[in-house]
Amino acid sequence: MRILVIGSGGREHALLNGLSGHELFAAPGNAGMASLASVHPVDVTSPDAVVALAREVEAELVVIGPEIPLVAGVSDALREAGFQVFGPSREAAQLEGSKAFAKDVMASAGVLTASATQITSLDEIDAALDEYGPRFVVKDDGLAGGKGVVVTEDREAAAAHARAVIEAGNPVLFESFLEGPEVSLFCLVDGETVVPLLPAQDHKRAYDGDQGPNTGGMGAYTPLPWLPEGSVERIVTEVVEPVAREMVARGVPYKGLLYAGLAWGQEGPAVVEFNARFGDPETQPVLALLETPLVDALYAVAAGTLADLPALSWKKGYAATVVLAAEGYPESPRTGDAISGDNLDDPAKILHAGTGAQHGTLVSGGGRVLNALGVGGTLQEAVQAAYSEIERVELQGSFYRRDIARAAIEGAISL
Ligand code: GLY
Repeated sequence: MRILVIGSGGREHALLNGLSGHELFAAPGNAGMASLASVHPVDVTSPDAVVALAREVEAELVVIGPEIPLVAGVSDALREAGFQVFGPSREAAQLEGSKAFAKDVMASAGVLTASATQITSLDEIDAALDEYGPRFVVKDDGLAGGKGVVVTEDREAAAAHARAVIEAGNPVLFESFLEGPEVSLFCLVDGETVVPLLPAQDHKRAYDGDQGPNTGGMGAYTPLPWLPEGSVERIVTEVVEPVAREMVARGVPYKGLLYAGLAWGQEGPAVVEFNARFGDPETQPVLALLETPLVDALYAVAAGTLADLPALSWKKGYAATVVLAAEGYPESPRTGDAISGDNLDDPAKILHAGTGAQHGTLVSGGGRVLNALGVGGTLQEAVQAAYSEIERVELQGSFYRRDIARAAIEGAISL
């Protein structure tokens, strides 16, 4: 099948790897993808440009990785042009694009989530700070490329983030802090049909011990040895199915990957956020364990036949990914430095994100530069395999967390 994957991150590299064997096209892609796909430049925010490219490569399936093209209506334009598309419509992608919309859907669907207050003017900030805290969760209501959420006990830092968001023209959401270990559950959703993938856990803070600023994610592992049996089914029945039904009832059926980011506290799984796409970097380990051909799962959603898809099958064992970040990430990542390593061309070990080519040399081109992937019979083996790959990569000033999955391995996480 001729498949076009839109995006340029580690998640899209993992998707391409899962689709290998097909005729693959990536746009705009990155330097690591060229061994798997023909790479084309495209403005992912332009529905017309993506439709033109899909026509040019005669795509039989288009898979949209990131949220920005989804919220820009790229999937709608592709569907109108007659393409099979994996990715929700612009309206359905508001589950990620607008935190206030997501809260409204959850309220109607009776889904547990943090209480929240939306404000739009600077003079409402103090009252919101008084209402929330001592741990402040302050979110940009719109898309902010992983920089939209600040979680802090520092009242002035919370106020500064709220001011910056309002001055940039977006509403701000203040939320209560949800206690409990975090779970990322990806679900294939086709109207009211929901098929979960393996649960994963991301590590969002930049530094070991969950210190430092929030990031797009510094590493992930799957499955979760501390998650009791039946937990995934509980998330599906208490969270994802009610939301999928509510979207259908609103005339905005969801078709694509719905990512539920949850905190599992005293009252059970509560939604921290929804994303309208695969998560990055959780996708990398989750897809490493998928035995069912990825194309079958994606095409079934695109074609509206997910209910007929046989149950997904999974490899035994565990997978983990560790992100290599550029110096200065997330505030002001340094780019343009040479990357070296003997494993950089092997997508079973290294998945590229912010990489580019300069005069034939691989260079850093973004904050999260690449992802090392490991699989193993135990979680410890999977994590060790990922670390042994990342240690073989050289990039001046780069850093990575050394404690991915450590709490799970040490048995320090429980519900
Ligand atoms: N892993 C976090 C995200 O994809 O948003």
